[in-house]
Amino acid sequence: MMALLETKNLEVFYGDFQAVFGVDFHVNEGETVAIIGANGAGKSSFLKALSGLVKSRPDGILLDGKPVGGKPAFDMVKSGIALVPEGRRLFPSMSVGDNLRMGENGKSGDRGWNYETICDLFPILRERADQLAPTLSGGQQQMVAIGRALISNPRVLLCDEISLGLSPAAVKDVYAAIAEIKKRGTTIVIVEQDLNAALSAADRIYCFLEGKVSLAGRADEFDRSQILAAYFGS
Ligand SMILES: Nc1ncnc2c1ncn2[C@@H]1O[C@H](COP(=O)(O)OP(=O)(O)OP(=O)(O)O)[C@@H](O)[C@H]1O
Ligand SMILES: [Mg+2]
Repeated sequence: MMALLETKNLEVFYGDFQAVFGVDFHVNEGETVAIIGANGAGKSSFLKALSGLVKSRPDGILLDGKPVGGKPAFDMVKSGIALVPEGRRLFPSMSVGDNLRMGENGKSGDRGWNYETICDLFPILRERADQLAPTLSGGQQQMVAIGRALISNPRVLLCDEISLGLSPAAVKDVYAAIAEIKKRGTTIVIVEQDLNAALSAADRIYCFLEGKVSLAGRADEFDRSQILAAYFGS
């Protein structure tokens, strides 16, 4: 089976500084894969490369087996790769509804996601549609960020630290939504520092350590100590 999205020997540089070293990664259609790792491990840099926000070699990223590395971010969205960025990056002077609709610009097909189906997934957003985005709670803002990416009908949804800074109850709500999005067939890659959240949501995990993959496999294949060793490099 060909992977939907794959990286081969992917490297990411910021000028002379190298953040990601030769990462081989893949996600199959319908899978949920989690990338875990400590601060500075290169997780966001990896997702930024997948979404075209940082440069990479053309053959470093393959979508349906075709090289797409180095394409501009808008082209990547149009090819079906949508990012929920770290820190959410909502448009603060825009309403919740307009933030959601912004994502329609990147529409890459029709897989059943539109304004109404996203509000069905997150009913609170329908109630709050006319409010400015910053007036929402952290968990609700995270729902807007997920909805804005989802409305482009991505083939692969990339989520960067969607639980960061949220209350335990909000984390539970956000991950319930991720489970529902998976159930409807969307392929998902989540970057997550919360081990429990990652392990319960994902079919497979990759652990990043200092820009390299330190562990990869099925989420249920490792015991805690193996994962912690790969996470902290001890
Ligand atoms: N724009 C940038 N310019 C220069 N260096 C950067 C830039 N962004 C990230 N880095 C560096 O690249 C390395 C990896 O950072 P990255 O943000 O990808 O890690 P991360 O795993 O997402 O960490 P965190 O858990 O803190 O979000 C770090 O050493 C970081 O300082
Ligand atoms: Mg990060």
